[in-house]
Amino acid sequence: MKKIAVYVTGGVACYKTVSFVRLLQKAGYQVRVAMTKAAQEFVNPNLFASLLKEPVLTDLFQPMEQGKIAHIELADWCDYAIVVPATANIIAKMAQGIADEVVSTSLLATAQPTFVVPAMNTKMYQAASTQRNLQTLKRDGVKILDPVTGLLAEGYSGQGRMPEPTEIATWFLSEITSEQKLKNKRILITAGGTQEAIDPVRLIVNRSSGKMGYALAKAAQQQGAQVTLVSTVPALPVPTGVEVIYVQSAQEMRQAVLKTYPQVDAVIMAAAVADYRVKNPAPTKIKKHSETLTLELVKNPDILKELGAQKEQQVLVGFAAETHDLQHYAQQKLIQKNLDLLVANDVSRKDIGFGSNDNEVILFQPEQAPILVAKADKAAIAQQILAVLASKLS
Ligand SMILES: Cc1cc2nc3c(=O)[nH]c(=O)nc-3n(C[C@H](O)[C@H](O)[C@H](O)COP(=O)(O)O)c2cc1C
Repeated sequence: MKKIAVYVTGGVACYKTVSFVRLLQKAGYQVRVAMTKAAQEFVNPNLFASLLKEPVLTDLFQPMEQGKIAHIELADWCDYAIVVPATANIIAKMAQGIADEVVSTSLLATAQPTFVVPAMNTKMYQAASTQRNLQTLKRDGVKILDPVTGLLAEGYSGQGRMPEPTEIATWFLSEITSEQKLKNKRILITAGGTQEAIDPVRLIVNRSSGKMGYALAKAAQQQGAQVTLVSTVPALPVPTGVEVIYVQSAQEMRQAVLKTYPQVDAVIMAAAVADYRVKNPAPTKIKKHSETLTLELVKNPDILKELGAQKEQQVLVGFAAETHDLQHYAQQKLIQKNLDLLVANDVSRKDIGFGSNDNEVILFQPEQAPILVAKADKAAIAQQILAVLASKLS
């Protein structure tokens, strides 16, 4: 049974949240509630507690039960978080990462998909700051249900009114069920640049940060996939629920990938695998005795090509990072490596790609016109790539 954390903040529309919680329960979801102090001015927590047969989280410093920190426990427990109603205040805090009471702190600790239902006075809603904060939340991947135009508690009409509980439930439930497009699919994702040893202290590396692979892993997991991440970047936080295998060199990555390959439905090779490695890495640190130093490099295995050659049921997605002739190399790679989808990006641009939080990519598929995915943050790009992958898996 899916678990929903409902966060209630202090607007007049609080009373509608009671019916919304009832609708979730009737639809078979397990619900828990947390309320801000302002929300408790409008609705008594006991009302929610008696519906849920569960205590409501009302205070950051309420006594710990069995040594558990309640607001973190709620954040970890839920599959989805929704803020109903969301005040201008909580929207501003979420956009800034402020954690100063139980609701904002628990929301900041939530890695699961988050939904926000704003409700407020028209002028508060239209204020430049509120609009800016809503844009920030959208960019962070938070889903927002726009308020409707109607009679406000202030006695006049305007946009800011919270939709009726049935409308909120229809939107929310359709979002979370369509989100599970990769339900039970097993997906292997590689991330980061491989590291090839020169000697025990030196490496040949590349500029890949691993962020794109991690964004894909997080989004795929949220869409119901069982994700295995083969990563060279232990410094990045592993998305909740994702299994990770750390590797360094292209050869180690090849081993990990080939081992998992027969059991998966899809592979996304987002890692930047070195084309060459040092033929004979020195067993001890190379000293700077000579004026020049020559390293002999040998070709690394082409993991993607091997996967393409061995492909059975798997959908195979490759990445191409190019500095010139992007279209030409991408089309060539797609065919030569027997790929189902190739994600190409122009790494000569400073504003996107390697190391950046943003990307702009072109999706190439056999016998189809290329699709441009316009510049956006890597989480949004990941969603678009996975939408194409999901259509191939269904
Ligand atoms: C009667 C009354 C109604 C309010 N309605 C709203 C509302 O609908 N939306 C909103 O953003 N703030 C509303 N507020 C203001 C919030 O309660 C206030 O900004 C509060 O600090 C929000 O705290 P919270 O975000 O921690 O719940 C209202 C205040 C009062 C006194």
